[in-house]
Amino acid sequence: MGERLVEIDWESARASNRDNWDDRVPLHEEAYGVDAFDDPSYLSRVVRRDLAALSPFVPDGSVSGLDVCHLQCHIGTDTLSLARAGARVTGVDFSSAALASAARLAERLGLCATWVESDVLDARAAVTGDFDLVYTSIGTIVWLPDLDRWARQIVQLLRPGGTFLIRDGHPALYALSPRMVETEGGFAWPGEDSERIPCTYTIVARLG
Ligand SMILES: C[S@@+](CC[C@H](N)C(=O)[O-])C[C@H]1O[C@@H](n2cnc3c(N)ncnc32)[C@H](O)[C@@H]1O
Repeated sequence: MGERLVEIDWESARASNRDNWDDRVPLHEEAYGVDAFDDPSYLSRVVRRDLAALSPFVPDGSVSGLDVCHLQCHIGTDTLSLARAGARVTGVDFSSAALASAARLAERLGLCATWVESDVLDARAAVTGDFDLVYTSIGTIVWLPDLDRWARQIVQLLRPGGTFLIRDGHPALYALSPRMVETEGGFAWPGEDSERIPCTYTIVARLG
């Protein structure tokens, strides 16, 4: 079988992807159940799980008082959960519609956050300040064309000794099964919680 090279026009792929995220905002405001945040003690399920993973890597096991940069923050439900856990938060995303939704939610809940519209591959130049924690979780690097450049942004955003957390599913999973939903401990077909596929990974690393 001969080799066949496929050329990707990254600029147009990026623009289509961003349009897609802009379009998803109203759907996700429903699907993510943002009304649950009206309870001031409510944290997103994603963050509840990630706080447990972070605990051994942050002072006193808590993000309270830390400067946190959340890459690909989408409509801010996880960013604002981190704010509720006591962090000073900056959310970065390239979807202006997602950030507008995040800002509306923050205002409604009376929570403080900084929102930065930028490609995460340019995050260091776009964001002011340095961070104790750079955080990105679920549905992230599968969208990015250059992971070396992405990793450089993270290193440059972190203070010495800072912590980075990523939790995500394998890109092949998303490619093969777009209908799958995340459940506690893995992924499953909607309504079939028992058929869980434990293919989520979590990496927490501390900068030397
Ligand atoms: C699945 S969501 C983020 C996951 C988050 N856990 C959530 O569901 O709220 C993916 C986000 O990545 C953003 N995104 C995709 N590619 C990006 C890029 N190159 N730079 C910045 N944001 C990007 C999209 O706009 C979208 O908000």
